[in-house]
Amino acid sequence: MRQAGRYLESYRKVRAKHNVLTICKTPKLSAKVTLDAARELEVDAAILFADIMLPLEGVGVEMKIVDGLGPRIEHPVRNEGAIGNIALFDPEEHVPHVLETIRLVKSGLADSVPVIGFSGAPFTLASYLVEGGPSRDFAETKKMMYDQPDLWNRLLTQLSEMVSSYLIAQVRAGVDAVQLFDSWSGILSPVDYEEFVLPFTRKIFDRLEGKAIPRIHFGVGTAGILKVMRKAGGEVYGVDWRISIDEAWRVLGDVGIQGNLDPATVLGTWSLIEKRSREILERIGGRPGHVFNLGHGVLPETQPEQLKKLVKFVQLTTKKRR
Ligand code: CP3
Repeated sequence: MRQAGRYLESYRKVRAKHNVLTICKTPKLSAKVTLDAARELEVDAAILFADIMLPLEGVGVEMKIVDGLGPRIEHPVRNEGAIGNIALFDPEEHVPHVLETIRLVKSGLADSVPVIGFSGAPFTLASYLVEGGPSRDFAETKKMMYDQPDLWNRLLTQLSEMVSSYLIAQVRAGVDAVQLFDSWSGILSPVDYEEFVLPFTRKIFDRLEGKAIPRIHFGVGTAGILKVMRKAGGEVYGVDWRISIDEAWRVLGDVGIQGNLDPATVLGTWSLIEKRSREILERIGGRPGHVFNLGHGVLPETQPEQLKKLVKFVQLTTKKRR
């Protein structure tokens, strides 16, 4: 995550001239930053440069992405009227730039390097819409969930339809895997996740069933809800560093797992980075179905050289095991 980001010189050059949304909406630029990052790091997969807010921006939700903070919504969505104002989503009409970026990225990459498409999940998208921006306690979101469950259902139904058709359009445009980012779902108790979120994430994974591409389900701080999240389906679960990866895998059972180095580790000495990465690989013990990555986005303070060294280290260590 944030494979392309401010820690990379090539990205900073593009970013000096354009804001994040403009880069995302200009296929030549977003394809360039996607490809530059994948090539510079020599990672095994490229992740599409986009933002989870794009489909919402496409249907007319006014927003900015504020440096160091994240999305900020001009008019938070807290009632029936505001939900009704969100247009029904049509990928070709509302996010043609994302689909074009995918085509450009695919044609610029060797066939051996897969491209991961993604979408925000309904809960995480709803949290930005309802709060109006990032939040610590998600009080407004939970208030709608607990106090106006019909409204919550209506909002999440609309968002899950949007997410399903967005991901299906990305598959048609050529992505090789899809990742559903439910970044903030770890704020929920298992019962609340099951009652207020699971039906919607499950619907999205169901709609992608039979598309013959891996579905990755990611969240932050999800150690306590992995068991219920797992009911949503998907082939791979992304976990952060707050849980040992072998323990997470035990809880999840027979699915692939992605993770889970703390991105801040990469700010440390090489010997610390190597030690922590080796520990993860040892906990995995060569079991097939592990995707090594950071438990969340690359931090802007990261030295690209350290990250490149980490990529090489993991590739060499896992090759030896195979
Ligand atoms: O290379 C890649 O990984 C693809 C790029 C990517 C971006 N956003 C571009 C971006 C991805 C995968 C996202 C997803 C995204 N966006 C998520 C889900 C994943 C996660 O991190 O949990 C969320 C919650 C968002 C919302 C968002 N957009 C946040 C929280 C921020 C950070 C604000 C900041 O300045 O730190 C953004 C802005 C953003 N989107 C950046 C990037 C690379 C930050 C860099 C910049 O300002 O240029």
